[in-house]
Amino acid sequence: MTQDELKQAVARAAIEYVVDGEIIGVGTGSTANFFIDELAKIKQRIRGAVASSEATAARLRGHGIAVFDLNDVPSIAVYVDGADEITAAGAMIKGGGAALTREKIVASVSGQFVCIADGSKLVETLGQFPLPVEVLPMARSAVSRQLAQLGGEPRLRLKAGSSEPFITDNGGMIVDVLGLAITDPVALERSINQIVGVIAVGLFASRGADVCLLGTAEGVRTLT
Ligand code: 5RP
Repeated sequence: MTQDELKQAVARAAIEYVVDGEIIGVGTGSTANFFIDELAKIKQRIRGAVASSEATAARLRGHGIAVFDLNDVPSIAVYVDGADEITAAGAMIKGGGAALTREKIVASVSGQFVCIADGSKLVETLGQFPLPVEVLPMARSAVSRQLAQLGGEPRLRLKAGSSEPFITDNGGMIVDVLGLAITDPVALERSINQIVGVIAVGLFASRGADVCLLGTAEGVRTLT
């Protein structure tokens, strides 16, 4: 099976977690996009969705799914999203698609976080994938110096094919931190959250995934 077929398989499996009559939280990325396409097939069963990025909102609307502002939604039963890396315990690195801040916010008000990922995303120790940190533009250098003190190698994310910094949906910039072996994800998430100028860190550890649907050649594995 190709990586896309594995992503499609977990996206299909995640439909089992959709609660009828509710508003669902929807993540960002290629796996989340497959989920949106599956969700479209059962859209009459849900009230709508809260999106974790402008790209996700556009794809949901394109399928005729109502997109709600999070401010109008007191709680969400289920949030479905991909990951760049995930451990068997459900700690994740996210933000390869630069949507980490809104993903974290939507996840924080959701009862259940269902992570959907192809099997290559399962790791023993987080950190092979550069850790994305969203920062306020004026603080990018100051934050990068502090991230270097934590043992990482910070790199400002650039727009594809350009020397201009990438700008997020929130007007922030992304510093990707290479070379971290994250043995204590909860402690590192806390430390990075304390750096002034950080908007959010793409470590989802203190609130990780409750369920992970992992696409493998043998079928969809469920990790809880
Ligand atoms: C976006 C994310 C994505 O969930 C993560 O990058 C995985 O993406 P994909 O499903 O394309 O592999 O965190 O900010």
